[in-house]
Amino acid sequence: MFPQQSHKLILLLSCCCSLLWLGSCVEGVLFEATSPLFTYRHGRYLREKDAILFDWSGMIISTQFVYKQDVNATMNILNAMVHFKSHRHTYNVYLWRLNENNERVKLLQHSLLACNLTAEHFEVNFNWPKDTMSQSYTIQMELEKRTEPHLGIVSFYGITFTQAVAPVSISNTVKRANDLKIEFIGDSITCKPPCGFSPLTEDVHESFVEKTARYLNASDIHVQCWSGKGMVRNHGDKNTTSAEPFSTYYPRTLANDPNILWNFQKIFVPDIVVITLGTNDFSTAPRPSYEEFSGAYQKFLDYVFSQYAPVKGPSFKVVMVSLVTFGNYGDYIQQVAERQQGYGKNLFFANLRDLLRNFTPEDKGCGIHPSVAGDEKMAKMLSAFISQKVIN
Ligand SMILES: *[C@@H]1O[C@H](CO)[C@@H](O)[C@H](O)[C@H]1NC(C)=O
Ligand SMILES: *[C@@H]1O[C@H](CO)[C@@H](O)[C@H](O)[C@H]1NC(C)=O
Ligand SMILES: *[C@@H]1O[C@H](CO)[C@@H](O)[C@H](O)[C@H]1NC(C)=O
Ligand SMILES: *[C@@H]1O[C@H](CO)[C@@H](O)[C@H](O)[C@H]1NC(C)=O
Repeated sequence: MFPQQSHKLILLLSCCCSLLWLGSCVEGVLFEATSPLFTYRHGRYLREKDAILFDWSGMIISTQFVYKQDVNATMNILNAMVHFKSHRHTYNVYLWRLNENNERVKLLQHSLLACNLTAEHFEVNFNWPKDTMSQSYTIQMELEKRTEPHLGIVSFYGITFTQAVAPVSISNTVKRANDLKIEFIGDSITCKPPCGFSPLTEDVHESFVEKTARYLNASDIHVQCWSGKGMVRNHGDKNTTSAEPFSTYYPRTLANDPNILWNFQKIFVPDIVVITLGTNDFSTAPRPSYEEFSGAYQKFLDYVFSQYAPVKGPSFKVVMVSLVTFGNYGDYIQQVAERQQGYGKNLFFANLRDLLRNFTPEDKGCGIHPSVAGDEKMAKMLSAFISQKVIN
């Protein structure tokens, strides 16, 4: 069953070079960003007339279509052009083969797409071995934004496939047994930048929070992170408090746009919110006092509960994580947790600071950031904590 719109799109293919895209001619089948051919998940986004806008880390653009093998070709080939203004963001591009039930059976290819400031069309090319058993099957293509919001707001217009592909209705997202939605809030340790903070190697997919979500088989997640931000004081601020700490950005649909506020009750209501802030607050002097830090944390907690608790009720839960290894500042987070009325019931404290203190050299990445092995240890511990203490 193809949606009504797809017939129109297929017709476009019959006349060559019929698509004028911002002045340049692209031949093929255009899937428009705002059409039902795409689904968007793993992040907040804004729907405009002809574009989808987003900037938080981890956003996934997903589409699917029927691919027909060319009997005469030696390999399967798929070429597409992604149309977006995407600054220097980078994406994991995945091509999955689906079965009749639209379940993933095989990852055909995974590649990296790196955008730049000068182009608005980016080619993605795939090739994979032919299947001798079936000539035609459904393929899902996904773009996962690896990089964080400070690079800028993305305007996504769509994808042109430069050969005949037939769109497939997308009521069927990836099915998982359990329905568990988690929102992760954090700084660079959550965003997972590399040494030197290059967009080319930053990848939120590999951060301890996304690993935690995979261990828990979470059905959907949102990640709101921004390197250098603190609960009350950003990294390296001359003062004990900053004018624009993390909480400035959190209410926004697009982290970079103060004018559009996210509707917390509509598109994504998490079962659990995991907050991992505080490392930047205490990383250098002058450090905030307990009163400054706990006052800001309390306001933030109250804000999060006020958004989600009215919708989810008593099943809504918050996990406060401490990764702060400087002095005994990590205890501040525990003290804020323990003084909450719902402590142990709808609010939990996950102590990962001792794990970080006992990191081996292999667990450490650059500066205070964990390595791949370190993230793995953190994810194992946090997911075990959540499944034993928080979910049950
Ligand atoms: C495959 O090759 C044969 C022989 O050259 C040709 O007749 C046929 O049209 C080709 N099929 C396609 C789909 O290109
Ligand atoms: C920007 O990306 C486009 C498309 O991939 C590429 O052709 C172009 O060379 C890139 N420009 C720079 C300055 O890297
Ligand atoms: C997640 O799914 C895997 C594979 O189905 C299963 O082995 C594992 O126990 C699940 N974990 C949780 C926490 O549900
Ligand atoms: C530090 O905070 C004080 C009091 O809020 C303010 O007056 C001052 O301008 C701040 N200094 C800097 C460097 O931001």
